[in-house]
Amino acid sequence: MIGTLAALAAVAWTPLALAQVSDEAATAGAQGQLLADCFKGQNCLAKRTAWEHFTDDLPSCMLAARVWWSPRPAGIPVTLVTQASAERLDQLRAQCATWRGPLAAALYLPLYNPSSHELSAESKQKLQAMVAGIDELFQKSESNNSGSSCQLRLILLYELFADQKAMVLYPVNSLRNWARLMADTDLLTNIDVDMIPSVSISEVLGDAAQRAVYEEGCRTGSVYVWPAFETHCAGALYADTVAVQGKGSLPEALKKCLRRMRPKAPFSHNATNYDKWMTATEPYDITYSPQFEPWFLSWRWGTLWYDYRYRGYGKNKIVQAAAMNASGTTWRVSPDGYLVHRKHAESRVRKEFLKAKFSKKDMDALRGTVYEHVESLWRATGQELAAGSYMARLERSFTRCMDSLPWWKREQGGGSG
Ligand SMILES: *[C@@H]1O[C@H](CO)[C@@H](O)[C@H](O)[C@H]1NC(C)=O
Ligand SMILES: *[C@@H]1O[C@H](CO)[C@@H](O)[C@H](O)[C@H]1NC(C)=O
Ligand SMILES: *[C@@H]1O[C@H](CO)[C@@H](O)[C@H](O)[C@H]1NC(C)=O
Repeated sequence: MIGTLAALAAVAWTPLALAQVSDEAATAGAQGQLLADCFKGQNCLAKRTAWEHFTDDLPSCMLAARVWWSPRPAGIPVTLVTQASAERLDQLRAQCATWRGPLAAALYLPLYNPSSHELSAESKQKLQAMVAGIDELFQKSESNNSGSSCQLRLILLYELFADQKAMVLYPVNSLRNWARLMADTDLLTNIDVDMIPSVSISEVLGDAAQRAVYEEGCRTGSVYVWPAFETHCAGALYADTVAVQGKGSLPEALKKCLRRMRPKAPFSHNATNYDKWMTATEPYDITYSPQFEPWFLSWRWGTLWYDYRYRGYGKNKIVQAAAMNASGTTWRVSPDGYLVHRKHAESRVRKEFLKAKFSKKDMDALRGTVYEHVESLWRATGQELAAGSYMARLERSFTRCMDSLPWWKREQGGGSG
């Protein structure tokens, strides 16, 4: 089997992306093929995204160009779930290097396509270039014989836009959900692609006795937060080094280029209680505080979905954490693992969001901005949470897909509790 790894990798093209279905589809991994099938038969050219789709909270039409699914056995039975745009493939490579289990990522390409009846030559070219880039990453990862890196499961999703302005609306929560559909382990951890998991996470979860403790906790309603750090000097490679060197190296690193995540926004991560974590050897409980946005290990069958309406920038992860808290989650912190932020260029939509936020203009004047719409969604979500009626909004195409995947049927998923 080892010799035919590449050929066994799932390969599935949508007819829209490329006219011919590749021969390799016949030998595609069954799971990857089932996922690819979810995207067939849509006419997304007729439903190209415009700005109003966002302000009216309409789901967008998403297409899959290709699925890659490593046939290698899971190194650890825990799936890291993430999403990335084209320019972040290098971050994905770095995550893969310190993760030993399946790494499921939804990769995204927005395409401005003026025509409503055909894919432009430029769109096709961009798709093909991205397929080639991802393919190279996948093949390199598959042929890496160091034996300790992740098993990639990738889907390249693309969205057609009628309106160039709307292309900043990165559908982060939809992508997180689609990526999670590639997880078939009971444990998963959603970690944004710019965060590098410490090697110690894979080590502790690779130990059956230690993993059993996490499993029991997650199965019974706890999640385990990974404390997050960022760098304020040195480059991306420094972050990679800190992730490898282990918790014992952190006191020294904190005197150099490492610091706690987002010190200027303590509500994001301070609830983790970093002081306690530095000396903790056992998991400990923490209290959720408003706008906490941790990354954590959780039970696949108990992790709430992400609300697709939040896209572009702002509140997307916070909403899910708030809903998890409202549903009675016990928040615990893992003493073993941590994450290190890997520096990257700031996105344009983030800059615009923050500019609107700190503009001192009132919401009327900001109508039509990402900031204004996300804030209004957040207020409405807060009311629903308080009333106990909030449910993350999911696209119908998404739930239909989930229903078609055998590993998402509870009785076959090995899930209980
Ligand atoms: C191979 O895997 C090792 C260990 O995970 C990693 O450090 C290295 O960068 C990988 N090489 C490639 C070419 O991806
Ligand atoms: C951060 O958390 C610590 C420990 O829980 C607490 O003592 C401190 O007041 C918090 N700081 C901020 C700025 O919230
Ligand atoms: C988190 O959930 C608990 C238990 O349901 C609740 O008492 C608490 O008010 C929530 N915290 C916030 C900040 O909403």
